[in-house]
Amino acid sequence: MNPMRSLAKAYESCFKIGAAVSPPDLTIHRDILLQHFNSLTCENQMKYELTEPEEGVFTFGDADLIVDFAKKMGIKLRAHAPVWHNQTGAWMYRDGDRPAPKELIYERIDAHTKAIAEHFNDAVYCWDVVNEATRDDRIGSKDGEDGDPVYRTSEYFKLCGAEFIEKAFRAMDKYSPNAQLFYNDYNECDPAKRERTVALIRNLQEKGCRIDGFGMQQHYFSAPDYDELKRSIEIYAGLGLRIHITELDISMMAVSNLSHRVKPGEPGFAEYLREAMNPTPEKLAQISDMYEKLFAVYRSYRDVIDCVTTWGVADDITWLDTFGIHPDMPKVKQHPLLFDEQHQPKPCVYQMIDAVK
Ligand code: GLA
Repeated sequence: MNPMRSLAKAYESCFKIGAAVSPPDLTIHRDILLQHFNSLTCENQMKYELTEPEEGVFTFGDADLIVDFAKKMGIKLRAHAPVWHNQTGAWMYRDGDRPAPKELIYERIDAHTKAIAEHFNDAVYCWDVVNEATRDDRIGSKDGEDGDPVYRTSEYFKLCGAEFIEKAFRAMDKYSPNAQLFYNDYNECDPAKRERTVALIRNLQEKGCRIDGFGMQQHYFSAPDYDELKRSIEIYAGLGLRIHITELDISMMAVSNLSHRVKPGEPGFAEYLREAMNPTPEKLAQISDMYEKLFAVYRSYRDVIDCVTTWGVADDITWLDTFGIHPDMPKVKQHPLLFDEQHQPKPCVYQMIDAVK
């Protein structure tokens, strides 16, 4: 019997504590989930390519495993993320040999939204309706100089303009009237990206679309700028939105003195790799410290933040181990979560619990 207090229980007066999970987490991380979390997100299982791999063919089996687990826990899910430029079948953008006309794309979004809402509505409390639709000129961007100043040049955008975002929100509002509707994005504290994100949200609001919240992903590849984080929460909340922290994790890059995410071959990458392959106790402690400081900020905005979700449960399963390195390279172990590879809580978890006593 572990005498440790539950993180989720300790934070009941602040916000929910969530984790993104895949089916293996439900066995491998079962005990941690049961003890410390009270919100779940499907890491991939509610995305388009898994729920509608071919037009009109719906497959909900993997998501249902997570939904059933959540039901047993007595909790609901943050549903993530139907309309997104990634993990969506190519069929969405085609009409036979030709690019799909936008009306067809809207019909497809409507049919998909109806199907997933009918299937999942009882189990979810909010939807990330649209994910990552703003222009990104920082990481691996294809937007280029001639791209739109606000929106990402995705297939959706190329075929529909920004209207697909509005259509997605209207469809979800129609089929899921009781769930909260969120827009979700990354690099959300970067001032230029934030400006574009605010423009996207305002545009939806001006068009009369229901949008209840903004999901701040909070993937860290460089040390958090706590002042910019506070400013960002205030700006997004100032739009009249609830805030969820939706994908929090801290890469080893965040403790390697880099000011932004670098890719293989770029200055600083080789040094980061050397450090990350043999992490010192100090570096690991820095990650734990960052969590403590981030949670102190989140707590101070508990009046607008309703949920803080980490993108994973414990360090033995994390997407970051293989992210941003060449596919032929061995994975580079990251330590980005609140629980370590042995499933032990990091020091920050105890401190975070003490901080709300
Ligand atoms: C993005 C998406 C998530 C997930 C992560 C990486 O942030 O929103 O669904 O794919 O990348 O795992």
